Amino acid sequence: MGKSHYQQEARSKQMQSWIPFIPESASTESDKVDALYFYLSGVTVFFTLLIAGFIILFVVRYRRRTPYEVPRPIAGSHALETLWSVIPFVIAMSFFVWGATLYFRNYRPPQNAIEVYVVAKQWMWKFQHETGQREINELHIPVGRKVKLIMTTEDTIHDFFVPAFRIKNDVVPGKYTTLWFEATKPGTYHLFCAEYCGMNHSQMIGSIVVLGQTEFNNWLAGNANQQSASASGQQLYQTLGCASCHGNNGEGGRGPALLGVFSSKVQLSNGQTIPADEAYLRESILNPQVKLVSGFGPIMPTFQGVVNEEQIVQLMAYIKSLSSQPAGAGGAPGAQGSPKPPVREPTE
Ligand code: CUA
Repeated sequence: MGKSHYQQEARSKQMQSWIPFIPESASTESDKVDALYFYLSGVTVFFTLLIAGFIILFVVRYRRRTPYEVPRPIAGSHALETLWSVIPFVIAMSFFVWGATLYFRNYRPPQNAIEVYVVAKQWMWKFQHETGQREINELHIPVGRKVKLIMTTEDTIHDFFVPAFRIKNDVVPGKYTTLWFEATKPGTYHLFCAEYCGMNHSQMIGSIVVLGQTEFNNWLAGNANQQSASASGQQLYQTLGCASCHGNNGEGGRGPALLGVFSSKVQLSNGQTIPADEAYLRESILNPQVKLVSGFGPIMPTFQGVVNEEQIVQLMAYIKSLSSQPAGAGGAPGAQGSPKPPVREPTE
């Protein structure tokens, strides 16, 4: 398989950090991850040297000098034992608190992020922007904006890894996982699959192209001929006949209304209340009987095998678009045929 022009270009543009073997730091989080990494390495090196030094010192100092030498008995010391329990405890807790703080920060996407859908498959990365632009093995994003990736796979487990941003997460069949990042400088950065996924795993690579906001707007405009995800989803919604049961406002009467359902709380027939997030909506399309909404019968057929992951993503985008509009504006299917404008303004 020949490598694309972009991948070659990406390779030549890759930059290294000033420290050998450390990739360039190009996201708001990468320096924080590095700081923790250097702290862990520093503590490890310090204690390795300290212990090795003491071993050498003691070997020399307490060596047996005559064949009949018997060492003095040692009674033990509470002070010493307390000290060598408390100090490691404090150090270990510092790893835990620092690591957990960073972990929660990096694995909880912020609210005001640009959303990009990622569908992995042997052996490529497919991206779809909210505004409809689709890409394969290459993702264009603006600098200085938070980007949230909503990821799933059509086949086996993959893993989305961008070393320069210090982000990495598994992409798992049957569920959505997320990542987020904010790139700090324009450039082209390696994307790797970091989970062995079959014969061409090593070629499941790509690049993240970070552009200035103006360039990014131009890029979006230059690729704007594609339908937005939610417009494609709306078409699917019609061709699959969803509307006959699931009118946006509950028309049809046999399924819950879709208007405003996303991120609302749903009361289930078993009395549980759960948030209608991406995972719930996906499950309800593929496996409708698992979590029935209170008041509705188990009549919806499964759409497993009828829609693929990309189409589920589009349906999801459509359902989400019904929730982001002011109540009543969503109206009947077909009422908002035109895709959203291609550019979102920065929120700052
Ligand atoms: Cu996909 Cu390895």
